[in-house]
Amino acid sequence: MKQMIIHGGRPLQGDVWIGGAKNSTVAIVPASILSRTPVTLEGVPRIADVDNLMDLLGEMDVKCDFVETTLRIDPEDIKMSPLPAGKVKSLRASYYFMGALLGRFGKAIVGFPGGDDIGPRPIDQHIKGFEALGASVKNENDQIIITAPEDGLHGAKIHLKMPSVGATMNIIMASVTAKGQTIIDNAAKEPEIIDLATFLNNMGAVIRGAGTESIRIEGVPELRAKIPHTIIPDRIEAGTYVALAACIGNGIRIHNIIEEHLDSYLAKVEEMGVVIDADEDSLYVYPAGDLKMIQVKTDVYPGFATDLQQPITPLLLTAKSGEGVVIDNIYPKRIGHIAELRKMGANIQVEDNIILAHPTSKMHGAEVTAGEIRAGACLMIAGLMTEGTTIIDKAGNILRGYDRVEEKLRRLGADVSIIDDPEVPGVMDAVEEE
Ligand code: EPU
Repeated sequence: MKQMIIHGGRPLQGDVWIGGAKNSTVAIVPASILSRTPVTLEGVPRIADVDNLMDLLGEMDVKCDFVETTLRIDPEDIKMSPLPAGKVKSLRASYYFMGALLGRFGKAIVGFPGGDDIGPRPIDQHIKGFEALGASVKNENDQIIITAPEDGLHGAKIHLKMPSVGATMNIIMASVTAKGQTIIDNAAKEPEIIDLATFLNNMGAVIRGAGTESIRIEGVPELRAKIPHTIIPDRIEAGTYVALAACIGNGIRIHNIIEEHLDSYLAKVEEMGVVIDADEDSLYVYPAGDLKMIQVKTDVYPGFATDLQQPITPLLLTAKSGEGVVIDNIYPKRIGHIAELRKMGANIQVEDNIILAHPTSKMHGAEVTAGEIRAGACLMIAGLMTEGTTIIDKAGNILRGYDRVEEKLRRLGADVSIIDDPEVPGVMDAVEEE
């Protein structure tokens, strides 16, 4: 297990560069096996999830070469291979191999994605989509076995019950090589979906309408990568650094940003009173003055992202008066960070899954646990803004999604280190979700 040790209370300043989006990358890497030719991805974040995906690709004889932020994936000798539960549970996004394998081979055997710490995360809409394309889906021994009919998948009109990011991406991957037209209605509109569609279209797929609620896909026989694809910047990592800069920054410039992807988040941060200057592709966050409490309700894109409700929570604690309210409509049980913040002295409670934050003039360092990635980000910010030493257990969950985080924080002046937990030698961090 990893621990993050923070000696907090030091004002941070300087520049930070945002990496490629985790939630694009964890879809685009599996989608690479749809290509008959080698794929080059640029701007790939150095996160543990990518290492795990490369291991899974290795099991299928797909060669990967990851240098700095360029990942080359060569699927020319790929062999169709089951991905059993054990490995697959190391990251939830391995469910994208269902759509990718189905699109490439007409068959996928993938372990059931694990449980997690943010409440239930069903995949019924993914399955419904595969079935609509003609596949049969069985669940045997903790594995999902998906098989296309003998004459291959066929296009279909699929209406999602809710605009699920994962289901939208999985159905796109399965249907790009299906015969005829597929229409996904009530599709998710997140920027990562546009990124996946751009990647696939540059390989010869015909996907229209990504980023809207109706996506149309005309099946093509096969895909071939021809040009490198650059992953979009990670809006959640960017939002995390915005919160950090507002909490403890003495002037921080955040580079490699697509501001539009952060619109509803920045509107809330600015409503609190944080002053931000936006440049072409960077943001400058001024040291915060007196801040006001706000109410946050998470929603699908372009609403306030569920993945940013935890990183903004420490900022609420710095407000001077009033009561802050956070309601996570996407994952109402995503509240595990609150008990940990309370260990640090935060005046914050949960009532009926509603987070109620109150001004907290002084917190103290403590030993806390990162139950999942964004809870980890929240505790990391809290530790950095608090005098004393904070130890974050299960810090591997932070490394799963935050690109070179130790290096980036140190560059801003933080006293932070990540170590192997001396009390738990050789044990992997429990993986929660992505
Ligand atoms: N849902 C269903 N059935 C389904 C799929 C989803 O009921 O078949 C529900 C979920 O339970 C949830 C809602 O629909 O209430 C939205 O879930 P969605 O499918 O959009 O989430 P996801 O694809 O599993 C991705 C991100 C999450 C992010 C959510 C919401 C990846 C790998 N994960 O998950 O990222 O919170 O979208 O935006 O892209 C994170 O990065 O910390 C993270 C958890």
